[in-house]
Amino acid sequence: MIAELENIKHTAIAKISTVELLEDLEQIRVEFLGKKGKVTEILKKLGSLPPEERPIVGNKANEIRDFITEAVETKKKELLEKEFQRKLETEKVDISLPGRSLGKGHMHVINRVMNEIVDIFIQMGFQVASGPEVETEYYNFESLNTPSDHPARDTHDTFYIKPGIVLRTHTSPVQMRVMEKTEPPVAVVVPGRVYRVDNDASHSPMFNQMEGLLVDEDVTFADLKGTLMYFVKKFFGEETKVRFRPHYFPFTEPSAEMDISCTVCMGKGCRICKNTGWLEILGCGMVHPVVFSYAGYDNEKYQGYAFGFGIDRMAMLKYAIPSINLLFDNNIRFLEQF
Ligand code: PHE
Repeated sequence: MIAELENIKHTAIAKISTVELLEDLEQIRVEFLGKKGKVTEILKKLGSLPPEERPIVGNKANEIRDFITEAVETKKKELLEKEFQRKLETEKVDISLPGRSLGKGHMHVINRVMNEIVDIFIQMGFQVASGPEVETEYYNFESLNTPSDHPARDTHDTFYIKPGIVLRTHTSPVQMRVMEKTEPPVAVVVPGRVYRVDNDASHSPMFNQMEGLLVDEDVTFADLKGTLMYFVKKFFGEETKVRFRPHYFPFTEPSAEMDISCTVCMGKGCRICKNTGWLEILGCGMVHPVVFSYAGYDNEKYQGYAFGFGIDRMAMLKYAIPSINLLFDNNIRFLEQF
């Protein structure tokens, strides 16, 4: 039996050392150590041996059982480790593979231009104000020195909500709303949507304006010119030239329109500037004393200037956009260019 046991040990070692798969190793374990395994069978037969042989064979059998158990465990670890390495090799993630990207949105060109303009004025010390788009006739016209029989009302093709209530035709009513709440000095810009009954390549029934208002002691037209010149050079470039033409607005006196040298042909004359070399971009002037009276400001003590321009027009000129409707059509292929 001792010889048989030695034999079993050698066969077991031979099998264990060549096994490649965990399932096969398990089968070997069962073959030798299972309930009907070769070593187990011998242990079962111990009883039939003469008493003096039992401890000798028993010891040997136990020794070999332990030996095989350990050999199986060691092999098992080895195979598991190999399996793990194989998985690491074959199942590794290729981190150099580009991921699937999500489509990113971005700000609309109007908002970008609006922020850019607001930033320029904030740097000069202006604050940002806002007011309602549904406005009373009082703020939109009356308080801005434009009574109902005033001819200038005809130039604003106004959307009426109901008698006395309009969609604001410009951002100027916010001038009055700010002055009512604030004592001078005042320096605000007001970006916002405005509405006029108008629709063609350069007009949309809804568009965006930026209002500016500054009130203090000793404010002159030179301050207005300096501020606007600084702004257009920052926004359109240092080489931009400006000119002021006398104009009329009920709420400013004197009033002017400001032109800049054509951003497309640099003043040489082209289709965009209708061969004049100049582009009209804004209206401005010194705040009319009547407006100050409505605001409750002292006409003798304070002067102020105001200006207003189309943000959409600024964007169109800066990026050579041919039609204002492109800005509101929400065509992704157009908008993605910015
Ligand atoms: N509100 C005027 C317009 O819409 C522009 C303007 C604003 C003119 C402020 C003078 C002063 O045409």
